[in-house]
Amino acid sequence: MSTRDRVDRVPADGYHVGLERCVMAEAPKTLFSSEQIRRRVAELGAQISHDYAGRSLVLLCVLKGGFVFTADLARHIELPLRVEFLGVQSYGMETRSSGVVQITQDLTSPVDGQDLLLVEDIVDTGLTSHFLLETLAARKPRSLRLCALLHKPARRQQEVPIDYTGFSIEDVFVVGYGLDHAQRYRNLPYIGVLPAELG
Ligand code: IMP
Ligand code: MG
Repeated sequence: MSTRDRVDRVPADGYHVGLERCVMAEAPKTLFSSEQIRRRVAELGAQISHDYAGRSLVLLCVLKGGFVFTADLARHIELPLRVEFLGVQSYGMETRSSGVVQITQDLTSPVDGQDLLLVEDIVDTGLTSHFLLETLAARKPRSLRLCALLHKPARRQQEVPIDYTGFSIEDVFVVGYGLDHAQRYRNLPYIGVLPAELG
């Protein structure tokens, strides 16, 4: 039985995530299956390998949501690369759109003169990516590009150039493949839409 089957076949009283009992009426409805994601991530990796041929790359994973995508993408890039992690936290009344972003975990080594690829789970309002692109540009990399698994243009407040996009989505709240709702669902192997009462 696959993980997908286990998640979809939710018993009436809920299902188990690790040690934690998670009670829910319905599993998130599949928007992109793990196979669709796998294929798209492989395409992105091939495109990136082609575009940066002959160079080496720093993949900059934005935590927490970018961890699954970065891990898969890295394995589809055929270039010498290193991976760095950037922890960010948003402040304000509306966490996801405050635009006031603090770096909670910084890079472990300088990036000046290097080719940087920022890897985001999703660009929603655009405020987080905009802040990170400005902050990283000040560190004088040789180049700086943005790769986002998901692109949700409906709620954009700040235009950001997305160089590599996995999928564009409507204005729905999605979970899985690294993305969370209240820290849950990051481990779903597919991307799903939460039942309305939770989203
Ligand atoms: P921003 O609004 O573009 O600044 O995105 C900030 C962050 O909000 C993203 O990196 C995600 O972590 C989170 N986010 C935005 N939309 C969704 C969603 O549909 N599901 C889960 N997280 C989301
Ligand atoms: Mg995020």
